[in-house]
Amino acid sequence: MSLATLLHTLDRRTAPPSAPELGHLLRRVEVTLDDVAPHLVRRPETYGRSCFWSGAWAELFVLTWGPGHSSTIHDHGGSSCGILVIAGLLQERQFCLRHGQLTATATRTLERGRGSVLGSEAVHQVRNCSEELAVSLHLYLPGVTFNTYAEDG
Ligand SMILES: [Fe+2]
Repeated sequence: MSLATLLHTLDRRTAPPSAPELGHLLRRVEVTLDDVAPHLVRRPETYGRSCFWSGAWAELFVLTWGPGHSSTIHDHGGSSCGILVIAGLLQERQFCLRHGQLTATATRTLERGRGSVLGSEAVHQVRNCSEELAVSLHLYLPGVTFNTYAEDG
């Protein structure tokens, strides 16, 4: 399935997909760097972010990661999030936030074609763990605001 087909599919829906449905859609979509070329934003000090598409209840961003670039530890303001790596290698750390206490729960490496689906309560951090450029798609349902967190110690 092309990226255009995915967005058309999302636009036709009358309700957001569940997390398992979103995972299923992201596993089927095939995206190349050419598909997102106008949205690659290279910045020297941190990752670049460009809105690719905005629907009635979803937003899709392209993130461009230089070597070592990292996000903050953040949630998505109550939105669900689907990530798909389309170039390079990213590492994702997931956290549990309970009673104001942040605990790391999992770390995984995402290569090209791999993704991650996060529920509305998820807290995570993403970084480019390679020496190459990395590019990823981030689909937020329904749209996104961020809260950031500091890790103890
Ligand atoms: Fe995120």
